[in-house]
Amino acid sequence: MLKRRSLLSGAAAGAAMVMVGPAHAASGHPSAPARRWWKEAVIYEIYPRSFRDSNGDGIGDIPGITEKLSYIRDLGADTIWLAPIFASPNRDNGYDISDYKAIMPEFGTMDDFEKLMTKASSLEIRIILDLVVNHTSDQHPWFQKSRASRDNPYRDYYIWRDSEQGRPPNNWPSPWGGSAWTSDAATNSNYLHLFSPYQPDLNWDNPAVRDEVFSIMKFWLDKGVAGFRMDAITMISKMPSFRDMTPKELQAPEYVYAAGPHLHAYLREMNDRVLSHYDVMTVGEAYGMHAEDIPLFTDSARRELDMVFAFDIVHVDRQGWRKVAWPLSKLKNIYAAAGRPKSRDSWNTVFLDNHDQPRAVSRFGNDTAPFREASAKAVATMLLTQCGTPFIYQGEELGMTNLPFSDLADFEDVQAPIEWDAKVKRQGIDPEAFFESLKGLGRDNARSVMQWDSSRNAVFTRAEKTWYRVNPNYTEINAQDCLQKSGSVYHHFRDLIALRRQYPALVYGSYQDLDPDHPGAFFYARQQGNDRILVLINMSDRGFTYEAPVLTTASLLLSSVKHEGAAKSVTWLAPWEARIYRA
Ligand code: GLC
Ligand code: CA
Repeated sequence: MLKRRSLLSGAAAGAAMVMVGPAHAASGHPSAPARRWWKEAVIYEIYPRSFRDSNGDGIGDIPGITEKLSYIRDLGADTIWLAPIFASPNRDNGYDISDYKAIMPEFGTMDDFEKLMTKASSLEIRIILDLVVNHTSDQHPWFQKSRASRDNPYRDYYIWRDSEQGRPPNNWPSPWGGSAWTSDAATNSNYLHLFSPYQPDLNWDNPAVRDEVFSIMKFWLDKGVAGFRMDAITMISKMPSFRDMTPKELQAPEYVYAAGPHLHAYLREMNDRVLSHYDVMTVGEAYGMHAEDIPLFTDSARRELDMVFAFDIVHVDRQGWRKVAWPLSKLKNIYAAAGRPKSRDSWNTVFLDNHDQPRAVSRFGNDTAPFREASAKAVATMLLTQCGTPFIYQGEELGMTNLPFSDLADFEDVQAPIEWDAKVKRQGIDPEAFFESLKGLGRDNARSVMQWDSSRNAVFTRAEKTWYRVNPNYTEINAQDCLQKSGSVYHHFRDLIALRRQYPALVYGSYQDLDPDHPGAFFYARQQGNDRILVLINMSDRGFTYEAPVLTTASLLLSSVKHEGAAKSVTWLAPWEARIYRA
């Protein structure tokens, strides 16, 4: 449907934003969103370390991704978000960058990257990169120079504050736990890091820092990448007074960090100076943002970003550090807020999984027998039919599950011990309770290696050892099986993506929750002009009868369960059954 330009030449030529065709939206509808390729895209996130190892060192790499591009194309995704591939000491697996213009040697070379781009382009797949510029690695030459003396040109690339008697300059916490300041002996001062001490925050108030960032962006855009996912982008502007946070603010410091006075000015500058010169997409990680805040970033008239990941969905089962049960009504409210038109032309993302979140089937479905496959399909149905551009995380299309953990040592993630120290050792939170929550919420759940088949190490690597664990369930859950089996989670994803491409109402349509109060059924409509698509999902382990007058005349387009005979008269919804109708 969508005619794509050549990825490499189009972006390099610096083409301005291009409309891909006449709007699908109902004529005369004042708030019809403009068509853009990235609104119609289905984006697949790859965590390169865990995706596919081509050279037998147990670490996923770029040639491994190139090898698997057609797998992604066959699924129907058309855009890939690569988690960071740049030189890094890997304290936070690439989210701590020491050279923004070099490829991490473990992942390959620039030549490997260019081969990946060429092959992707031939398959009409776009590649977006992860722009991690709220902070760098402490090993970045800028920081090495910055910390060396008080009067060097790089000092102001970072945020330094003096303090008395070894105390931090203020009470700001890292959202991961502990102080956001670390003292540095060389100049007897403290630097700010909202994440780990290995990730010092850049000082965006310094125009030289912004110049550097914009030059990095151009470097990659000129290589033909189709845009960026922007890490922690809401945190780039810091509160100028550096005052202590109030006790209330301390309960959710990310909302204070996201309220910096220059955030929008910096994003506008980035757009004017860089993004507006290319036909690319941006999606910002919006820590500390709710659905209502989205238009501030994404309304096209504001010329900032195209999309953001708001954090409501991330908080659905969290209260502080604690994992809590969530009623379906909470999820419905989140999507109702996201689906309410908020401004003339702003856009959403839909995501359940990513490299920071537990697995979608374990969190939103039920990963135990006999419900895993059915619930993974139910949850996928929601992902691909809600309002916004959907993001799939590697393995989600197989219904990959959370990992089993029995000990803190099973966690590889830098965040886990930082949180443990802050919560258990310093705040005295019960270790058992904290560990239980960590098991369910920990980021390592997403980072076990991709399960390609049932041979050793899920054939992620030919090495004996993998850099991180293989989920022991790979013998039952793997791509090879899923591809072979009709009705598998993979095939359901594929069918959903195909349906999304066939019915623009699933992309551009309005949203209406048709049964907000039902405790088990999620029933909603997407409508564009006269095209009305109905989505009915049983979000529970129980089967029940579900009747709605509109269903008696609707035609079934897709069902996660095989129905004999006239499906539209079937009123029994099996556990986790999902159906899509045309009204
Ligand atoms: C974002 C990334 C996460 C990383 C953090 C610091 O939240 O998604 O993986 O640890 O930023 O860069
Ligand atoms: Ca490798």
